[in-house]
Amino acid sequence: MESEGKMTARLMLAVCTAVIGSLQFGYNTGVINAPQEVIEGFYNATWLERYNEPIPESTLTSLWSLSVAIFSVGGMVGSFSVGLFVNRFGRRNSMLMANVLAFLAAILMGFSKLAVSFEMLIIGRFVVGLYCGLTTGFVPMYVGEVSPTSLRGALGTLHQLGVVVGILIAQIFGLKPIMGNDSLWPFLLGCIFIPAILQCIMLPFCPESPRFLLINRNEEDKAKSVLKKLRGTTDVSSDLQEMKEESRQMMREKKVTILELFRSPLYRQPMFIAIILQLSQQLSGINAVFYYSTMIFQKAQVEQPVYATIGAGIVNTAFTVVSLFVVERAGRRTLHLIGLGGMAVCAILMTIALALLDSVGGMSYLSIVAIFGFVAFFEIGPGPIPWFIVAELFSQGPRPAAIAVAGLSNWTSNFIVGMGFQYVEQLCGAYVFIIFTVLLLIFFVFTYFKVPETKGRTFDEIASEFRQGEGQMVKQAEELNSLGHNADDSQV
Ligand SMILES: *[C@@H]1O[C@H](CO)[C@@H](O)[C@H](O)[C@H]1NC(C)=O
Repeated sequence: MESEGKMTARLMLAVCTAVIGSLQFGYNTGVINAPQEVIEGFYNATWLERYNEPIPESTLTSLWSLSVAIFSVGGMVGSFSVGLFVNRFGRRNSMLMANVLAFLAAILMGFSKLAVSFEMLIIGRFVVGLYCGLTTGFVPMYVGEVSPTSLRGALGTLHQLGVVVGILIAQIFGLKPIMGNDSLWPFLLGCIFIPAILQCIMLPFCPESPRFLLINRNEEDKAKSVLKKLRGTTDVSSDLQEMKEESRQMMREKKVTILELFRSPLYRQPMFIAIILQLSQQLSGINAVFYYSTMIFQKAQVEQPVYATIGAGIVNTAFTVVSLFVVERAGRRTLHLIGLGGMAVCAILMTIALALLDSVGGMSYLSIVAIFGFVAFFEIGPGPIPWFIVAELFSQGPRPAAIAVAGLSNWTSNFIVGMGFQYVEQLCGAYVFIIFTVLLLIFFVFTYFKVPETKGRTFDEIASEFRQGEGQMVKQAEELNSLGHNADDSQV
């Protein structure tokens, strides 16, 4: 029997402390959006001081794109290094140690203006990316492992919420009257040391993950005492039992390395799907919006572009909440298709708005509607679904390797969009969103034909479907299958 998990003060403290890391990730994703013009002014002024001439337009574009996108390079390295930390130092201590990077980044970015060095800002963006790559691995793991089974799903969503709220906070802080101005932007970038201090103060009061203590360290007594505090009961045998069972299962299934993942025909197709789904998340163009929406709204002649950006942040947060309720109930594949389709329609609307800007009135409003819709549909499908499906396509053995590869594809495509968007925008002008439309449609077709429904099915069922090949018959069977599942769900 599974005991009903309850929310204790200890558990609350542990989860809230960890989620500071999610806020940091969101904040650093959104923070360079609103003050782009102001910081570009600093790059220009620095250039002028050094070389006695204003910065060439193309150099400025390169430097700014690099400042935005190098964050993803750091993220890539960080997310790949998660495994090096969590199993050696434990989950909690890993989070504590990562804050060194947050402090370092805060110093580099916060003092770049004083030191008249945009290089410092760019290196700082890399370091904070490193920090965020680690954090996005640590937080969901720690939260999942301290939570009782019955609360795991609900508490796990707090990471996602933390990220979008972090983006929103960054957009609000980036307003001119707050910190998005000539004198305060260094603090806008550097203030990440404050949540880092807060987390460093709170973490020592949080317990180490009981799963780490029991399975990695084999310290059953410690694990037991931590569990007692977290659960607020003296009987934690069912929790211990569950963890031991899970560890036994892990032993039974051999760990698969990344190389084996690509060599084995058993994993090749699910791995291919996992990678394309990650690409569909990033190449949908969502980070073109999170990194550059203020610039986009400016081009669309929106009067207060920064406020439109904040509006997008609010829509983003609201629809993340909506998706939290929907994702557990509806089929993953269906949601992903709805999301991609909706984003494609919004990207077309955006193109129309930008193309007709000078000839038809009210187009700036259409652009706002299009971007808000774009963000909303993202949070319904391509935002959460790729991670869900990766976890559900692979069983315990290959899962860590699969998630590492998925993370790598995700950060790589994130980098491509962050780095390339401004160039492509300069090249295509109003038609830049056509590219995302085409990509979205390709991903839609791919998802329709290749991605199986994973919800409510075992790994064996999914794997046998892959073995059966890709014939039309299988496709139809699969369709029927997912319909059947949906019908089951609606009756529950
Ligand atoms: C850089 O600053 C100079 C002088 O303030 C200005 O004329 C020029 O337009 C700026 N260059 C860019 C690319 O913004």
